[in-house]
Amino acid sequence: MANRFVLNTISYHGSGAIQEIPGEITRRGFKKAFVCSDPDLVKFGVTSKVTDLLDAAGIPWSLYSKIKPNPTIKNVQDGVAAFKESGADMIVTIGGGSSMDTAKAIGIIVENPEFADVVSLEGVADTKKHATFTIAVPTTAGTAAEVTINYVITDEDRKVKMVMVDKNSLAKISVNDPELMLTMPKSLTAATGMDALTHAIESMVTPGAYAVTEVLAAGAIELIREYLPKAVENGTDLDARDKMVNAIFLGGMAFNNAGLGYVHSMAHQLGAVYHLPHGVCCAMLLPIVEAENAKFAPERFRKVAKALGLAVTADVSDQACADYTVEEIKRLSKVVGIPTSLNELGIKEEEFDYDYLSKNAMIDACAPGNPFTPTLEETIAMYKKLFQ
Ligand SMILES: NC(=O)c1ccc[n+]([C@@H]2O[C@H](COP(=O)([O-])OP(=O)(O)OC[C@H]3O[C@@H](n4cnc5c(N)ncnc54)[C@H](O)[C@@H]3O)[C@@H](O)[C@H]2O)c1
Ligand SMILES: [Fe+2]
Repeated sequence: MANRFVLNTISYHGSGAIQEIPGEITRRGFKKAFVCSDPDLVKFGVTSKVTDLLDAAGIPWSLYSKIKPNPTIKNVQDGVAAFKESGADMIVTIGGGSSMDTAKAIGIIVENPEFADVVSLEGVADTKKHATFTIAVPTTAGTAAEVTINYVITDEDRKVKMVMVDKNSLAKISVNDPELMLTMPKSLTAATGMDALTHAIESMVTPGAYAVTEVLAAGAIELIREYLPKAVENGTDLDARDKMVNAIFLGGMAFNNAGLGYVHSMAHQLGAVYHLPHGVCCAMLLPIVEAENAKFAPERFRKVAKALGLAVTADVSDQACADYTVEEIKRLSKVVGIPTSLNELGIKEEEFDYDYLSKNAMIDACAPGNPFTPTLEETIAMYKKLFQ
């Protein structure tokens, strides 16, 4: 089978990249932008960094910001109604994964109204038309939703996060401007950065990896290891923010084409039930799941360990590479201040529904990308480690 590689048609990078947005809209003859962002970003003046440019260029726009972290079916459906009412003919989404994923779902349903229930999009949906033309502008350095064909929407009734995989959802243009990230607080920088590390590592460990995605992911890991602690330490370090933007793009291209694994399958359940930040869930689960993966595919950790700084010579065993990887993940998590157990987040083990979360993790769309298929008992055992 051929290896697949999907990309935005254009991606802009670096300080001031958002200046390119008005020209991209007017040159294509679009008349009005539907701006999809979240309420905090509007309140703290991040969204307006882009809408001010639209105003200056005389491009009309209307705002949709009813978007929660871990966005819901209702956020999407209200957004579809707002899009239709707005008279807009394209989308500019400004935000983290939550805003960008909501915009992807809106754009897909506007063009493929037979999926208006949102739930029928779960997994690999057979949409016929590409989503509404979208420019994705990330304000966090983590999810890489601006460069991926995935989006994640929460079904509040079932308490699950639905992962949608659809080439038609990919933003046509991504604009990766580190200046939009200078306002991220330490905890958000840490969580989103560890999400990005998880993407890069899972995309290297998965059997879906191939030479192109491995090089991209290794580049992402090297940058994250060096620059995430700097970005957390000093949020206004523009160079560190810029390097994180590069890392996210590299890792995004890697996992978009190689796939993810069981860290994400298990993290999605924690996000859906406890509304925890996605990156925190990933960071806590990453060393636990990779320690298990190493029992099945230790050879996959050689390149990961090298990217994480180990001198991987011929006399270093696969297992030593895996052990180093697990310890290095834990070290990085500690340096950037990720909690080490769910107890610290106020979650009580006696109320934790191991069975429910584990069964949903097993059928999550990312699970097939893992090097081995964990049983119910193995999944429960991994969740238990989050309370130790
Ligand atoms: N599409 C994908 O491929 C993909 C991959 C991984 C995760 N996800 C999903 O993305 C979502 C998480 O996205 P996220 O981690 O980017 O966070 P988010 O979009 O949920 O935002 C979290 C909070 O950070 C705030 N924020 C964002 N940027 C900021 C900035 N520059 N300054 C100050 N505050 C800022 C937001 O207002 C919000 O309150 C989850 O639902 C997750 O499942 C999607
Ligand atoms: Fe993620």
